[in-house]
Amino acid sequence: MGRHFALKRDDFIFASRLIRKMRDPKTKFDERKFAEKGRDYLYNYAEEKVGPLNPGRRMFLKGILIGIGALAVASAVPVISYLNQPPVYIKNFPWIIIVDSDGNPIEASKLAVNDPSILLFQYPMEGDITFLLNMGDANDNPVSIPATTVVIPEDGSTYTFPGGVGPNNSIVAYSAICQHLGCQPPEIHFYPPKYLAPGGTVPNFLPPVAYQAAQSANAASVIHCDCHGSTYDPWKGAAVLTGPTQRPLPYVELYWDQNTDYLYAIGMNLRAPVIMGQPSDLASFAYLSSYNEQTGCPKMLLTKGQAPSQCYSKLNNEGDTFSS
Ligand code: FES
Repeated sequence: MGRHFALKRDDFIFASRLIRKMRDPKTKFDERKFAEKGRDYLYNYAEEKVGPLNPGRRMFLKGILIGIGALAVASAVPVISYLNQPPVYIKNFPWIIIVDSDGNPIEASKLAVNDPSILLFQYPMEGDITFLLNMGDANDNPVSIPATTVVIPEDGSTYTFPGGVGPNNSIVAYSAICQHLGCQPPEIHFYPPKYLAPGGTVPNFLPPVAYQAAQSANAASVIHCDCHGSTYDPWKGAAVLTGPTQRPLPYVELYWDQNTDYLYAIGMNLRAPVIMGQPSDLASFAYLSSYNEQTGCPKMLLTKGQAPSQCYSKLNNEGDTFSS
């Protein structure tokens, strides 16, 4: 079963430190040793470079290895798992269940409103980080996010953002990598409506130009990047509110299984910008064990009794996402 991980804050900080160490030439992660020695090498590396692993964090790292997640081991995973996988394009995106740091599926109805969760996404297969947001109003009541047309300022083209999913159609997922120059959390933040509502307290680090742009556009909440000031509207497909970015944040298409309350990442949209740093055709290696290539359905949905035909109709209706 493929998985995406929604991280607890401590685990996210730990994973961020780990990935920095792994990418630093001075402390670089040795993929060859990892391929030879397996998870013990990762555990020892993490303890030595970042800090002690309590049993929970060891489980978390083990979960990363079992799943396809692997922000921390993204560069190493292809060595052992994906060596012989063919390149995969948009129509072959697997459906991936979203789980928490402990490996338990996220239940949509329990996802905190207006609280940013960070996911480790393998869409498109490079261990990218993504906001998973349950959008709500200033009183933290979930708000339905409708489909909308999003403009890409860079070239004036448009695409359709399909709107929120879940029991209130309020859950969305956007790349947490800024489209300007690639800053990531903690530099890029989600600000819920309590910061922007009349009488609310505007955080010091949300500059007036971003606040005013949000007011002019009637944006209830924003995603803002501290690095150079790009601002996005998460209620409107993460459309650009202020530059310097010329591209909206990419979204990950989600599917909510009403029977189980679980959430799946099911694809991306080639008409929308791709995640900063990814190839424009999204070609990469894919892990398809969760995906039944004959039916186009996730195996987990099938085992929960959902008919393949329902899955087909979902695929067929998602022209923007599944056609190139
Ligand atoms: S990287 Fe985010 S505004 Fe420049």
